[in-house]
Amino acid sequence: MWYFRSPEIIFGEESLSYLETLGIGKAVIVTDKNIAAAGMVDRVKANMPDTECMVIDDIPEEPRYADIAGHLDKIDAFAPDYFIAVGGGSSIDSAKILFFKHERPDLEFYDVTPLVKLNLRKKSRLIAIPTTSGTGSECTWAAVITDEKEKRKDELASPEIMPDYAILDPEMVKTLPKTQTINTATDAMTHAIEGYTSRWNNPYSDAMAEKAMELIVPSIIEVSAHPDNIDSRNSLHIGASMAGLSFSNSQIGLAHALGHSLGAIFHIAHGKSVGIFLPEVIRFNYSTVKERYDRLNRIIPEKYRKPTLDQSMEFILKTIGQNTKISETGISRELYGQNMENLISLAAESTGIITNPRDANMKDIKNMFENAY
Ligand SMILES: [Fe+2]
Repeated sequence: MWYFRSPEIIFGEESLSYLETLGIGKAVIVTDKNIAAAGMVDRVKANMPDTECMVIDDIPEEPRYADIAGHLDKIDAFAPDYFIAVGGGSSIDSAKILFFKHERPDLEFYDVTPLVKLNLRKKSRLIAIPTTSGTGSECTWAAVITDEKEKRKDELASPEIMPDYAILDPEMVKTLPKTQTINTATDAMTHAIEGYTSRWNNPYSDAMAEKAMELIVPSIIEVSAHPDNIDSRNSLHIGASMAGLSFSNSQIGLAHALGHSLGAIFHIAHGKSVGIFLPEVIRFNYSTVKERYDRLNRIIPEKYRKPTLDQSMEFILKTIGQNTKISETGISRELYGQNMENLISLAAESTGIITNPRDANMKDIKNMFENAY
């Protein structure tokens, strides 16, 4: 028995106007300082004039539980009927955890697991409005919280923390700075490829991954050159959420396992770090899932396509200004070597190892880390 899980998705221009139809009494808006300063929260509020709002705007990048837990008492006193995440993966993931803790104050945040029935939605519901096109968090049932002490990221997962609604309004990503646009879009492209080749792939996740590739590849290139192109922004935004639906319903692979590890140790943006490993991981997996990689490669428009998917990816990453080798990121050979053991052991703990199509032992992982430098 398999499932395909998805929020209700509202997409396209002016999709924020859907908020008013929900009749929201009280909303906790979860966001960060930059998004609030860019007027995004005001834009959301303007679309629900009758809603009383409490705004939490101090979500940091890569939040730890300690960063968000201080808000819980205020939230409980406010008694919202909706949580609205406005932001990238950090704000959406934080909203998922705040929503969970508001619903279940009797449980700890690490009790979020797919194995336990949480019985949420007794008091409130969850809306995600992404302001990046990449993490797919608006469509997933996972939340990533950084464990600062252990220098790793904990991935908490339960179908019950999947948002009820994902609102994909291209106006919310139109002014996203170039670096973030490229990094998050690289993450989305990696989600589509890894979702498609995960051991747990299935017909529904496949369909999402194929369409995501079709939408993401041309739009990532267009948006990196012309950030104001609203049609391409819209395609990238929809493609990124489809890639999120794909991997959320099938799982990820080694580019994420290795990328999480690199990102945690060297504080490199998630999309940039997973993208660096993508060509190398495709080469490692190629003999196992050749047909699937070839099929994805054929989806890439001819003008960007190379004979094999790893080469196409290298070409696309370079075209949009993304690093394809770790040596290009400023990490010295020496420092990289000193951290090798730690890099390998962190990567080995990731779920991406389990669902990657080809088994990788410690030596394989080390080789990939070496080759990617
Ligand atoms: Fe990712």
